[in-house]
Amino acid sequence: MSATVNVSIPDYVKNERFKTWLHEMVALCKPDNVYFCDGSEEEYASLCEQMVQSGTFKRLNPEKRPNSFLALSDPSDVARVEDRTFICSRRKEDAGPTNNWVNPKEMRTTLGKLFDGCMQGRTMYVVPFSMGPLGSRIAQIGIELSDSPYVVVNMKIMTRMGKKVWDVMGQDGEFVPCMHTVGAPLQPGQQDVSWPCNKDQKYIVHFPEDREIWSYGSGYGGNALLGKKCFALRIASTMARDEGWLAEHMLILGMEDTKGSKTYIAAAFPSACGKTNLAMLIPPQGFDGYKVTTVGDDIAWIKPGDDGRLYAINPEAGFFGVAPGTSYKSNPNAMESIKANTIFTNCALTPDGDVWWEDMTDTPPPELIDWQGEKWTPEIAKEKGRKAAHPNARFTAPASQCPVMDANWENPDGVPIAAFVFGGRRASTVPLVYQAVNWNFGVYLAATIGSEMTAAAFGNIGQVRRDPFAMLPFCGYHMGDYFNHWMQVGRELPNPPRIFGVNWFRKNKDGKFMWPGFGENMRVLKWVVDRVNGRAAASESPLGWMPRYEDLHWKGLESFTREQFDELMTVDREAWKQEVLSHEELFAKLYDRLPKEFIWMRELMQSSLWRSPEQWHLEPERAE
Ligand code: GTP
Ligand code: SPV
Ligand code: MN
Repeated sequence: MSATVNVSIPDYVKNERFKTWLHEMVALCKPDNVYFCDGSEEEYASLCEQMVQSGTFKRLNPEKRPNSFLALSDPSDVARVEDRTFICSRRKEDAGPTNNWVNPKEMRTTLGKLFDGCMQGRTMYVVPFSMGPLGSRIAQIGIELSDSPYVVVNMKIMTRMGKKVWDVMGQDGEFVPCMHTVGAPLQPGQQDVSWPCNKDQKYIVHFPEDREIWSYGSGYGGNALLGKKCFALRIASTMARDEGWLAEHMLILGMEDTKGSKTYIAAAFPSACGKTNLAMLIPPQGFDGYKVTTVGDDIAWIKPGDDGRLYAINPEAGFFGVAPGTSYKSNPNAMESIKANTIFTNCALTPDGDVWWEDMTDTPPPELIDWQGEKWTPEIAKEKGRKAAHPNARFTAPASQCPVMDANWENPDGVPIAAFVFGGRRASTVPLVYQAVNWNFGVYLAATIGSEMTAAAFGNIGQVRRDPFAMLPFCGYHMGDYFNHWMQVGRELPNPPRIFGVNWFRKNKDGKFMWPGFGENMRVLKWVVDRVNGRAAASESPLGWMPRYEDLHWKGLESFTREQFDELMTVDREAWKQEVLSHEELFAKLYDRLPKEFIWMRELMQSSLWRSPEQWHLEPERAE
């Protein structure tokens, strides 16, 4: 019976702390079996086949999408659950007002009850993984214990998962314990469902001081693949604060110019606001000889190097990307990355055994099975407003399949970052691009970005909320301390990266996007890179430095007029006075730990907004 399950630990597992923990967790969760994942292709194939048999996976047509699978989740388990996410630091003040906090003792009691017998009738998978190249000085190790084979195969793609991790860990190496259960134990003889989860209770819990994660009740994405948001952001951000580095919700890209010189940029946007797209950007017409390469599309771990610059690695090994909107038009490199060996979740199924989602093609297939397993036609969509794919449908694909991966994407030392870019999804107010005048203003800029909420998390879609550094749901400690940490990093760096704000999503009065976006964002990137390298001009504005029409490269997009550009770049004084006032909302929450500099910067911004427009756009700053 489950309570007396025999755990045979393989010889190559030597870590004593792990062994003790495993025995405790087996006794608590009472799985029927314990299985050690080796990370091999054979193991991956057999788990996928097992899930095809159990109904979790549908194997896609091998001629269309070789070695690929579709999973349809429970309709209640489709996104991160921010209101069920907890930071259980010893002191409430250390979690801060932007996180849900519960006393760790109380939470451990709650979890102890929930996890008691939670894996009955199931297998406990032991999933050893490295975030970052194995053995890199920036990398970290985690062990996830999960009762979900879906989690195992996704972790295989998203992390460096398998046997080799034990060698790096050795007898007494550090690791982050990651407990995960779908929270759906099976009674003897009980038939399993295709997507087990707990509809009533979900807990995504972090103990930052103990560097431990416990996740209950969900099988989806950031709730269940614990290396990603839970470890690489919430736990890692606290590690980074303690150790003087940064764990950020950022893509990393390289931009190579016609002379072959490469500049690396890291950019933060909230969930579903364009990181994957920007990371894989293909330069548009007019950019012959330029190249953009991908280092990462979601998370960056960044450490000061010996030369006084910041170096970043992508701790992940795969993409867990938003499917809807991804097409050969918007993101060809993503489409190439998911041609094979990909797991699709909550996409629609075509009659010939392939996947489809909104805007993948101009004309939808005449008939589909939608993400809830029902018949879907364009007519039904029109009539009932039904989506073929869930708006947060995702693909899981190995990063190595992306045609433009940077030569250094697995370099254990990382790549040097020259600029940080921050953006949100803002239909109004925020111009296409602006540059902070210095590091502190940059931190202020990043701390106050706002964004309309998206389907990546449960919540009020479309409503603007402050999302500091795109880290609101992902910072494992007090947001005020986090801002101070950023200020401190800047103080200590001999030559800190320059900081920029962008907004691809401004709309005109007809509700249309004013900027073509996607590949055309290259024009903004080029200006950013040229600014960093002292090659581009700008003029002064209340928000910082802004390019004039003639400061951007327009070759290939001559149809975009100066008037359109000016409209896109407008800094509406009245709207900005309101915007700056609204920063108060966040600041009031964080007041006791807010960097003092913020108050003065806000006052300076306010006073500059009262100056007449003619007093801005003075002489442009001269490029070198
Ligand atoms: P997460 O994986 O949730 O972190 O999302 P992400 O930040 O990687 O966003 P992603 O690149 O997947 O884009 C999300 C949505 O924004 C997709 O529907 C894209 O089509 C859309 N999008 C991305 N870039 C642009 C752009 O430049 N302009 C416009 N209008 N839409 C964009
Ligand atoms: C995000 O929501 O920012 C994601 C998807 O990247 S998830 O892994 O579910 O967090
Ligand atoms: Mn993300």
